[in-house]
Amino acid sequence: MTLPRPLIAGNWKMNGHVADGTALARAVVAGSAGLAAELLICPPATLIGLVAREAEGSAVAVGGQDCHAKPGGAFTGDIAAPMLKDLGCRYVIVGHSERRTLHGERDSDVQAKAGAALAAGLAAIVCIGETLAERDSGATLPVIARQLAGSLPAGASAATLVVAYEPVWAIGTGRVASVDQVAEVHALIRRELGARLSDGAMVRILYGGSVKPDNAVSLLGVADVDGALVGGASLDAKAFLAIAAAAPARR
Ligand code: 13P
Repeated sequence: MTLPRPLIAGNWKMNGHVADGTALARAVVAGSAGLAAELLICPPATLIGLVAREAEGSAVAVGGQDCHAKPGGAFTGDIAAPMLKDLGCRYVIVGHSERRTLHGERDSDVQAKAGAALAAGLAAIVCIGETLAERDSGATLPVIARQLAGSLPAGASAATLVVAYEPVWAIGTGRVASVDQVAEVHALIRRELGARLSDGAMVRILYGGSVKPDNAVSLLGVADVDGALVGGASLDAKAFLAIAAAAPARR
């Protein structure tokens, strides 16, 4: 069976100014040739146009970190999915745990944003993940199943949907989920996608949370791990490219 091409996505979060963002994007683009994985940079909104210009003509895709559920209107400070598309984005992250926690986004909000992304011609990277308290109480699998069911947009397919499993307790903590923990959750997500989508087997499921060059080979080797959503290490071109190089060729 053909497996999906791995996707290595860098989420720069609220980091980067014109000078260092340009240099970082340029270095990633320069090192991107010949990789088995698809590369994606999700810079802060202020740098999307700049990164898109740097990535033009390369295999590196550009994405947003969030979008509004509406295509435009009186929503001060927000960014609409068609605006991201207009700048050259192919993807947008929705429902990152930092948005869920710090901006109160619920599954229904994430679902609406993902739907807006699809309507604008973007692929949605839908993030889900349990907190430490949920893991410690044995609730991980039901929490993941509930978040997935509540966050998936209607009409999604492998071409327009990526799911990112990011255990909240592993984000920015240096505490990476074990291979067994990742395998268990990714298998559940795969089953749920298979039950909902005709091509659920081809939807890429990324792992995120303290992915670094030294753990990338083992994490990317887990069944049903089709790439990584990388935070801190994506701010270092060498580290990000090393993670990308760890993604196995699958065809
Ligand atoms: P870190 O790689 O810094 O743990 O961040 C993961 C993340 O939140 C990516 O979206």
